[in-house]
Amino acid sequence: MAGDETYLHFAGYRDVSSPLVNRLAQSGLALPALGFGAASIGNLYRPVSDAEAEATVLAALDAGMTYIDTAPYYGFGLSERRVGDVVRGRKDIVLSTKVGRLLRPDPSVGDDRERHGFCSPMPFAPHYDYSHDAIMRSVEDSFQRLGLARIDLLYIHDIGHRTHGAANGQHMDALVAGGGLRALEALREEGVISGFGIGVNELEACAEVMAHAQLDAILLAGRYTLLEQDALDDMLPACLAAGTAVVIGGPYNSGILATGTRQAGPVHYDYGVAPAHVVEKVARIEALCRDHDIPLAAAALQFPLAHPAVASVIPGLGSVARVQQTQALATQAIPGDFWAQLRAEGLVRPDAPLPGLPTPC
Ligand SMILES: NC(=O)c1ccc[n+]([C@@H]2O[C@H](COP(=O)([O-])OP(=O)(O)OC[C@H]3O[C@@H](n4cnc5c(N)ncnc54)[C@H](OP(=O)(O)O)[C@@H]3O)[C@@H](O)[C@H]2O)c1
Repeated sequence: MAGDETYLHFAGYRDVSSPLVNRLAQSGLALPALGFGAASIGNLYRPVSDAEAEATVLAALDAGMTYIDTAPYYGFGLSERRVGDVVRGRKDIVLSTKVGRLLRPDPSVGDDRERHGFCSPMPFAPHYDYSHDAIMRSVEDSFQRLGLARIDLLYIHDIGHRTHGAANGQHMDALVAGGGLRALEALREEGVISGFGIGVNELEACAEVMAHAQLDAILLAGRYTLLEQDALDDMLPACLAAGTAVVIGGPYNSGILATGTRQAGPVHYDYGVAPAHVVEKVARIEALCRDHDIPLAAAALQFPLAHPAVASVIPGLGSVARVQQTQALATQAIPGDFWAQLRAEGLVRPDAPLPGLPTPC
């Protein structure tokens, strides 16, 4: 039954004998299919109180979301501090954080007015640096902020043209010729971390970095969702071939695939207001969801896990209520007919694997 298969995607862990998780499995890491994106508790777009942040992470852990992704950038240290305080002492957690931005003290910060999308009072400003020494420094800083003696995965954060434009060449140079990758390889070799990869919103950067290093995991945000599947061409097959696990961030494309198009006010896509062609496509998917009486967000959450390269999906959740909703969405039975019709109507690529359905050759 399609519903049962869907539930199985979220009920536990991927088969560790699968080639996709080879590199992670070799280092003893297993990611739960549903993880927790901790940008929200770095006060992404709105302040979250310390008590609410703690309750949210605890609720996520209770719900089995034992993989947590954070970053120095998320609230300029706030998310790392909050995550570390909750998970300290727990052995059953997989934790990823990131490198590529150092936090420098900024005495001009006096309140939690929004900066770079975060409403955080932490008086630091982010500075890009992907060089050997900066990466070593960044990891040390993260250990101190987290208050933890172990980091499982490190992602090189936001390398690529999308973030850096014409300056990307110089950042790639720092990473490759400047020893950033060497630093990460040494940390992995010494057992300081179990693995490393990149955390990006673009496909091109994945190929660029994969050409220079064996990546254990890639956090791909927003680029393999119900709305867009260009990752099927090169990135996902390359990850399967290399044994690189893929973690899907931004499964709702930063909002629209959770809220749908019919709410009052603007709907969000890719950290901004959704353009008309995106709204039009989501409205069609939404109509199909209504026909089958399933929430759009459930389909958005369950879709990426049908791809054999995908190990985990990490939505951004900023409250206990959102965690509880998400648990229900993850276990919502979705009939095979819905997926079949989604494909038949051309709403996803014909070669996109779908839960419980054979993939056409
Ligand atoms: N470069 C990178 O490495 C990178 C980039 C992006 C993301 N990520 C990772 O991926 C995680 C998730 O990404 P994201 O937060 O950008 O995007 P997302 O999960 O696609 O979307 C989050 C948005 O969806 C809304 N939402 C969630 N559940 C909902 C529900 N049940 N009903 C209605 N709305 C719902 C949230 O609204 P509310 O705020 O109202 O709850 C929030 O605005 C991040 O926390 C981070 O760990 C990594």
